[in-house]
Amino acid sequence: MSRVAIVTGGTRGIGEAISLALKDMGYTVAANYAGNEEKAKAFSDATGIASFKWDVGDHQACLDGCAAVTEALGPVDIVVNNAGITRDGVLAKMSFDDWNEVMRINLGGCFNMAKATFGGMRERGWGRIVNIGSINGQAGQYGQVNYAAAKSGIHGFTKALAQEGAKVGVTVNAIAPGYIDTDMVAAVPAPVLEKIVAKIPVGRLGQASEIARGVAFFCSEEGGFVTGSTLSINGGQHMY
Ligand SMILES: NC(=O)c1ccc[n+]([C@@H]2O[C@H](COP(=O)([O-])OP(=O)(O)OC[C@H]3O[C@@H](n4cnc5c(N)ncnc54)[C@H](OP(=O)(O)O)[C@@H]3O)[C@@H](O)[C@H]2O)c1
Repeated sequence: MSRVAIVTGGTRGIGEAISLALKDMGYTVAANYAGNEEKAKAFSDATGIASFKWDVGDHQACLDGCAAVTEALGPVDIVVNNAGITRDGVLAKMSFDDWNEVMRINLGGCFNMAKATFGGMRERGWGRIVNIGSINGQAGQYGQVNYAAAKSGIHGFTKALAQEGAKVGVTVNAIAPGYIDTDMVAAVPAPVLEKIVAKIPVGRLGQASEIARGVAFFCSEEGGFVTGSTLSINGGQHMY
């Protein structure tokens, strides 16, 4: 039986490319999403990958969602914590809700998904967890104290959980993408985006498939000696 992988936010953007890359490796993939039913249906129809709706920021919803995936596809061996949101604004204008929602989904989602799946991976002696951080969690970013803090937290979470997983066959790694051509970046105003691209040494945005290749490596059998690591895929924008 093939290994089962959950990709949160796996029906569009970077997550869609990750879902496809893991399917290409022979894994059985479950793509989670939050609420964009139309996109999730189109994705599942086009790829044959099952999609499952729940909010990764909701602890009980993650436990229930992972139980539903296990029931439908089998025990979960691989989790890619990719779901994420932005609620940008300078501190003076950022509401507590904007802070809390970004922490709840981006960082809380990693905890919730690990709580739901890490025990089973440990019992079976094999697992892969990959957390999608960000260049802005490494370097900071104006107008993003919430997002930068959540993503920076993901990098700490990764190194801490990797220490728990190392002796039981579970690797935990992170990827820190730079600016990738997805809906999230399309929301950045054009003049701001132009300035960002001008600072990327390779001179372009990244592609979702370029992040997916890194995830695929971490999730492979051959990736078993790599844990607690953060792979920067950012066109040379921040050499960390
Ligand atoms: N794009 C970039 O340049 C960039 C750079 C660095 C890091 N990242 C990180 O990479 C990840 C993917 O980014 P992206 O650009 O592909 O984002 P995106 O195009 O906005 O897609 C976000 C995905 O996350 C899902 N999602 C959002 N909130 C969720 C929740 N509460 N529960 C479950 N799923 C949820 C969305 O589901 P629906 O489809 O249902 O809305 C969607 O599938 C994020 O963690 C982001 O922070 C992106």
